[in-house]
Amino acid sequence: MGSLDTLLGGLRTAQDALLDVLNLGKLKTKWLLKSWLFQSFNGLVVISSLLFFLGAIFSAYFYVFPAYQPVTVIVDNEDVFTSDIGMIPLSNNETIDDINTECNVFDGRWVSDESYPLYNGSQCPFTERGFNCLANGRRDQEYLRWRWQPKSCDIPRFDANVMLEWLRGKRVVFVGDSLSRTQWESMICMLMTGIDDPRSVYEINGHRITRRIRHLAVRFSSFNFTVEFYRSIFLVQPGQRPKRAPKRVKTAVQLDMLDDISDEWVHSDILVFNTGHWWTPTKLFDMGWYFQVGGKMKLGMSIPEAFNKALATWKSWIESNINTSRTRVFFRTFEATHWGGVESRKNCEVTRQPMSRIDGMDKHPYSDAIIRITKNVSVPVTVLHVTPMGAFRSDAHVGTWSDNPRIRDCSHWCLPGVPDMWNELLFSNLLSYQRP
Ligand SMILES: *[C@@H]1O[C@H](CO)[C@@H](O)[C@H](O)[C@H]1NC(C)=O
Ligand SMILES: *[C@@H]1O[C@H](CO)[C@@H](O)[C@H](O)[C@H]1NC(C)=O
Ligand SMILES: *[C@@H]1O[C@H](CO)[C@@H](O)[C@H](O)[C@H]1NC(C)=O
Ligand SMILES: *[C@@H]1O[C@H](CO)[C@@H](O)[C@H](O)[C@H]1NC(C)=O
Ligand SMILES: *[C@@H]1O[C@H](CO)[C@@H](O)[C@H](O)[C@H]1NC(C)=O
Repeated sequence: MGSLDTLLGGLRTAQDALLDVLNLGKLKTKWLLKSWLFQSFNGLVVISSLLFFLGAIFSAYFYVFPAYQPVTVIVDNEDVFTSDIGMIPLSNNETIDDINTECNVFDGRWVSDESYPLYNGSQCPFTERGFNCLANGRRDQEYLRWRWQPKSCDIPRFDANVMLEWLRGKRVVFVGDSLSRTQWESMICMLMTGIDDPRSVYEINGHRITRRIRHLAVRFSSFNFTVEFYRSIFLVQPGQRPKRAPKRVKTAVQLDMLDDISDEWVHSDILVFNTGHWWTPTKLFDMGWYFQVGGKMKLGMSIPEAFNKALATWKSWIESNINTSRTRVFFRTFEATHWGGVESRKNCEVTRQPMSRIDGMDKHPYSDAIIRITKNVSVPVTVLHVTPMGAFRSDAHVGTWSDNPRIRDCSHWCLPGVPDMWNELLFSNLLSYQRP
């Protein structure tokens, strides 16, 4: 356990990355010089070193010129994808509407609705401070009053009492990264609006919500169910660096092994996965995280290839562990982010209104990969294709209204907000498959 914590500790969370914001240019340059010396011996990596070096000059530039203050550091930012990353995009006939035969609920638009938000973030003890934008000083409130309207059907309005009753005796498990934690918090807060005594809802071990905690379980004692969150950013298992691996390797992400806490996900009634935001060069290779398959390091393996491999591991785990007469499995697709364009990638401007045009942002290679794999799992898996709906919501990110205003964040969402809609879709899906 201790070594695992160390491993996880080595992973810089968004917050940590941001805390050393002011030192970034300096640190990065130092680190880069070091790695330059090491790697220049290795012909294969010279080019990547060069790229890093250019990156260092670039960040040093921003460091030196205070005109760019406040410095913005990327929170869970995905790197810009080019067309040649080796992910095969979905073809037009390969959409998800065949999963939702009657209506593709993910094809729609946001409409203004004064009956939203569904709860007050400050009255819900499970809205973590970092996501409670109003409490952190956000003044404009229009972002709270939008509802997702599918093109060819309606989503039933969320009814806490109906859902609480439906969940009686069940176990809901969310697995994934911080975006999964947001959906978990959102679900608890939505359900709490139907609870008379807030003290009857509690984290079973008395844990507080923190960014790195591996497991949180909130119990609705009067309804005899729990809503749990497992932090598993890659779904597969990070492991010790092999002894003879190159120095730059700090952690081996074992692509053929699901997370070692996965046993705890099995006996659930509703199981919701996500992964995506950590599969980037800055969060993997720059941190010394490389891939491993069959006990062998795969230093040359690309991130998209690794992502697909991890999904394949997830698929076989699902197929051999899930009892379909009990567990409903969901997989959320990539959550849209709104960092500025290529030249100003570290830019994060939260708008006052949703965007009217999304220019291709409704697609993401990781979403395509998720949609494709889930179709090929031998047990039913429902895709929550949140990429398109999120793409419109440049107004709904945390921005500077997190618990650290020096940080800009165009990845995470304010609560209440967009993740509530993910839960409304999840609930409506559950209710439409009524089971005894
Ligand atoms: C989709 O279209 C491709 C060619 O464009 C075809 O090969 C494939 O069989 C089609 N798939 C389905 C599910 O219809
Ligand atoms: C939410 O609740 C807090 C604390 O009870 C209250 O001060 C605030 O006005 C409420 N906000 C809204 C938008 O109702
Ligand atoms: C609570 O739910 C569990 C199933 O999760 C069930 O076995 C148990 O009997 C329930 N307890 C009560 C008091 O209803
Ligand atoms: C699968 O789940 C059902 C419903 O909870 C239960 O009756 C059955 O025993 C389970 N099967 C296995 C193999 O665990
Ligand atoms: C589905 O999975 C099988 C193995 O389980 C694989 O052979 C096949 O290529 C997959 N199909 C697609 C479309 O990915």
